[in-house]
Formats: sequence, C-alpha cells, structure tokens
Amino acid sequence: MKTALVLGAGGFIGGHMVNRLKSEGFWVRGVDLLYPAFGETRADEFVIGDLREQHVTNPLFDRQFDEVYQFAADMGGAGYLFTGENDADIMHNSAIINLNIVKCAKDRGVNNVFYSSSACVYPERNQEDPNNPICSEDSVYPADPDSEYGWEKLFSERMYSNFNRQHGMNCKVARFHNIFGPFGAWRGGKEKAPAAICRKVAEANDGTNIEIWGDGLQTRSFLYVDECIEGSIKLMRSDFSGPVNVGSKEMISINDLAKMVIEISGKSLSLSNITGPEGVRGRTSDNRLIFEKLNWQPGASLRTGMEKTYEWIARQVEAATAELPNN
Ligand code: NAD
Ligand code: GDD
Repeated sequence: MKTALVLGAGGFIGGHMVNRLKSEGFWVRGVDLLYPAFGETRADEFVIGDLREQHVTNPLFDRQFDEVYQFAADMGGAGYLFTGENDADIMHNSAIINLNIVKCAKDRGVNNVFYSSSACVYPERNQEDPNNPICSEDSVYPADPDSEYGWEKLFSERMYSNFNRQHGMNCKVARFHNIFGPFGAWRGGKEKAPAAICRKVAEANDGTNIEIWGDGLQTRSFLYVDECIEGSIKLMRSDFSGPVNVGSKEMISINDLAKMVIEISGKSLSLSNITGPEGVRGRTSDNRLIFEKLNWQPGASLRTGMEKTYEWIARQVEAATAELPNN
C-alpha cells in the first residue's frame, strides 16, 4: 500500500488532498495545528502538532513515505496579507515550518516533498496592467514580490530546490494561483475574494449592495480546488521539479466575478466599490510551462467552480444564521 504524509491536512487544500489520496487507496498521515473546520478527516492517522517545533516534525518522518505534501503555512487573502499587521508572523511561522520539514525529510531519507508556493512570488512591476500581467515562471527575477508572504514563499522554494541540488532530494515546487472551492475559509478575515464574495451575496437581501474592495477593475484568475489537486499530483509523479504555475488562465475583473456570483444566486444586487486592501492590479496564470512539461493544464470553467462554491457557502451562511440566538 502506498503511503503519504500531508502537512496542513486540517486546511483547505490539504483536506482535499487527503480525500484524493484516500480515494486512490493510500495510507495517509495528516498533520495540522487543528482538525479540519468543516467535518471529519479521512486520514488514517491525524496528528495534532505544531510544525514549527522540531520535536514534533522529527517523529513524523519515521517511515519512508511515497509522497509528502507540504501545505502548512500562515496564510490568507488580501485582507490578511496586505494590511501589514501580520507580516512578521507570516514570514516567521511559515519559514520555520519549511526549514524544519525539509531538514527532517532529508535526515530521514524521505525525498519526495511537494511544496506549495504561490503566484505572490512574482514581481509587482509586472502586475500593474490589469489586462496584461506577466507571470511566466522565468519572470520571477529580479525579485520584487508585493507581499512579505511572497518573499517567504520565494525563500522557501529556493531552499527546497537547493536541497535537490546539494542532497539529491526530489522536491517539487508549484506556484498556486488563488485556489477556491468548498471547504475553504469563507469568513473570519483569511477568506479570499471568491469565498468573500459568495458570502456577501448569500447574506444580502434583494435590492441591496455588496461591498467590493477597490474599483473592482483589478484582475485575477481563480483555480478550482479539484484542478489544483490534479495538477499537484501530476507534478509530484512527474520527472519535472518546477517551479511551475498551477493556476487558471481565465482572467476576470473582481467586479465581473461579483456579477457572476450575483447571477448564480438569482438575486438582484448591486456593487458598492469601497477602499480596501487590494494587492497587485492584475494577475493570471501563464500555463505554457506546465503544458510543456506535464502535457496538462487546467480546463474547467470558472463559472462551474463558482456554482459549486456558492452553493456550499450559501449553506454555511444559512446554518450560521440558524444558530443565531434570535432564530
Ligand atoms: P489553509 O490556511 O486552509 O491551510 C493551511 C493549514 O496549515 C491550516 O490548516 C493551518 O492550521 C496549518 N498550519 C499553519 N501553521 C501550522 C503549524 N505551525 N503547524 C501545523 N499546521 C499549521 O490554506 P490553503 O488555502 O489550504 O493553502 C495551502 C498551501 O497552499 C499554503 O502553503 C498556501 O500558502 C499555499 N497557497 C494557497 C493558495 C490559495 O489560494 N489557497 C494560493 C497560493 C498558495
Ligand atoms: N479577500 C477579499 N475580500 N478580496 C476582495 C474583496 C473581499 O471582500 N473585495 C474585493 N477583493 C479584491 C482584493 O482587493 C484583491 O484585489 C482581489 O479581490 C483578490 O483578493 P484575494 O482573493 O483575497 O487575494 P489575492 O488574489 O490578492 O492573493 C491570493 O492569491 C495568492 C495566489 O494567487 C492570496 O490567497 C494569496 O495567499 C495567494 O498566494
């Protein structure tokens, strides 16, 4: 039986990865600070532990895992990354996790570590035109990420690549571009635009406004979580190590994303553009390299993923409303 270690298994992408590996018949050990927020884990063993601590990480590598997925990080959407209030924690927490993991894996002879980097590594100067952002893998240098989170990702992806070069490890690095779908954060301050907009629409009454940060003309592309998992697994099982973009090419403005969600909901709502943390002006995935190396790229439409996500978040909103004292 094949075995996998999933770090950050209580989180959004880690939880989906555990499900996928279980459906393939793997024995899975999951690790996180917390159990999954939205239901039971399917992991065979779930360790609650702090990956910043070497006495926690060392014993996790007591066997030769066929695949190790490193998703644990201190992360969130624009409301968490771009206020400046969390920068020291983001850098320190995530860097120390990665320093521990790669060293433990190397010391125990566990080679196949997948690292989830981010589109946030790309230079701000190439993402100022919302209609023509440049995010090809080789455009990353000279480095100038727009967030401290991006700097930590760049440091860590270089570290994993250096363990490949110096110690013959087989680490893989993917740069995820804004992943969305059911079981992701949808409230509390760490949620990203797709989930935040679904929540705002689900909570709104007909004839009212929903608030959108910025003028809404900033662009992004969003990748449905199933395709993120597929791309990650394909990279893990290939002879290519990356770094490579795992993202969608379907770029959309945030106002148009909000209009799409409103249409899905069937409500009659308008947009109110307000001041808020915005990040880069435009960003989308360049998929030439992933297609060249893996003969694959994501293909599902944004609309299909948003329909599933809205349905799930609307149910969460309904359940949360039912729990309020006056209901
Ligand atoms: P998430 O926040 O849902 O999951 C991360 C998990 O890591 C959380 O469950 C958290 O409890 C856990 N964690 C944090 N610190 C820990 C610690 N010290 N010890 C143990 N566990 C700890 O985030 P996600 O969306 O699932 O993202 C997974 C990975 O993908 C992260 O590395 C993230 O930076 C990267 N990524 C995600 C996106 C996205 O759009 N979701 C985009 C780019 C990169
Ligand atoms: N989160 C959020 N909430 N964003 C909003 C909202 C809202 O209510 N309204 C408008 N936006 C705008 C933000 O201002 C930003 O310009 C855009 O929507 C996208 O915001 P996010 O989805 O929160 O984050 P991001 O795309 O800037 O960065 C995310 O993607 C990276 C990878 O592509 C983050 O999740 C990073 O952690 C991730 O690495």
